[in-house]
Amino acid sequence: MKTSLSIVILAAGAGTRMKSDTPKVLHTLCGKAMLSLILQQALELSDDIHIVLYHQAQKIEDMLRGEFGALLDSTLHLHTQDVEHFPGTGGALRGIESKHNRVLVLNGDMPLVRFSSLKALCARTESIVMSLLWLQNPDGYGRVLLDDKDCTQTQSAPKVLKIIEQKDATPQELEIQSVNAGVYVFDKEILARFIPRLSNANAQKEYYLTDVIALARDEGVAIGGVFVNESEYMGVNDKIHLSLAQEVLLGRLREQAMANGVKMDMPHTIYIESDVVFEGECVLENGVRICGKSLVRDSHIKAHSVIESSVVIKSDIGPMAHLRPNSYITDTHIGNFVELKSAKLEGVKAGHLSYLGDCEIGEGSNIGAGVITCNYDGKAKHKTSIGQNVFVGSDCQLIAPVCLESNTLIAAGSTITHNVPSGALAIARGKQHNKLGFFEKFFGKAKQSN
Ligand code: UD1
Ligand code: CA
Repeated sequence: MKTSLSIVILAAGAGTRMKSDTPKVLHTLCGKAMLSLILQQALELSDDIHIVLYHQAQKIEDMLRGEFGALLDSTLHLHTQDVEHFPGTGGALRGIESKHNRVLVLNGDMPLVRFSSLKALCARTESIVMSLLWLQNPDGYGRVLLDDKDCTQTQSAPKVLKIIEQKDATPQELEIQSVNAGVYVFDKEILARFIPRLSNANAQKEYYLTDVIALARDEGVAIGGVFVNESEYMGVNDKIHLSLAQEVLLGRLREQAMANGVKMDMPHTIYIESDVVFEGECVLENGVRICGKSLVRDSHIKAHSVIESSVVIKSDIGPMAHLRPNSYITDTHIGNFVELKSAKLEGVKAGHLSYLGDCEIGEGSNIGAGVITCNYDGKAKHKTSIGQNVFVGSDCQLIAPVCLESNTLIAAGSTITHNVPSGALAIARGKQHNKLGFFEKFFGKAKQSN
């Protein structure tokens, strides 16, 4: 199939309903831009993919160059829509020369669609195949007029008469529950014939791709309607839709992780992103958030911990711990309120209330409560290096750059500014003086309790 199908993804719209400076198709679900999600699916089906851009085209092109740069100009072709003269989804298709005779048209704001269900649409042979949803609440979608008034989603081959955009619909038409999901397969020849004939005589003064249906119907072209599932074909137009779509994607990611052996407490409270990899036997407690390119293997992540672009192997984390990007921990215990950043810990215990940034800590070392690596001097970041079997007492500040060699002890409450050689105890704190009788001098005689 990869050799016989061209794909056009429409991504030129302004996306005003998002109320955002970010182009609509760059809004993310579980860490991935909507356009990137649909493009990944498209790449499973075609070697000739066209993306139509206009609004904030540069930002979108930058994302595409970053993620799919190697495919640009060979498989991926970018086009700029002439929005000034030909606005609308029909205008977007003007002048696109597809390599193959069948063209699948996708909206860039449909992040949940999967190539397996697209394949089913593409397997149909009518000159036009379009996707339909049957919705309790059809608000926002183009309504599809079917020729059988009693038609429901159970009908396998509904006859499509025309599509009426919401803004052009009469109150009666607004009641129609069969809507246009926005995915179509066209014979190339159909697009060449009907796109130039579209008019913009409608409420939005736009050239609607959806009008091709009625034009083609009038000329006896075979049109196949296929009912599809909202959980794949929903369109995302605003931030409410975005959150609903993300829930669907999260559900898939969680299920996939659990099927691979991850145990989840209260899965609906757990957020994981598309690039997170789980290996071995892992437990995620409620409220855990794992983002970016993270790997978690044979580990237990306790409630409300956050892991960003880090590697966690044979370790336990939290509750309420924070691994910021580029941390790497193995055989390690990280307790509550411990924050790591660019930290490599192997066989370490850091049980409570610490900030460990830009550091390496070796096997058998214990980091006491409240220890802080002071990695930033106001201008630059510096490294802290801690060897094996180092005991760092509670409430120490380690002023980087600094090295605590293996087999050393750091007394609680020390501010360490110099390297500590192997075998030494470092103590750097004010001496304690006990001033006898001071209490009574200050407060007067203490009351005797019975
Ligand atoms: C569109 C359909 C509607 C359908 C719905 C499904 C039309 C006229 N309407 O409506 O029938 O129910 O999708 O989700 O097609 N775009 C361009 N150039 C433009 C305008 C839009 O490339 O000039 C792109 C957008 O970036 C977007 C897609 O086309 O990715 C759909 O545009 P949008 O404005 O979201 O259309 P809807 O109003 O949702
Ligand atoms: Ca839309």
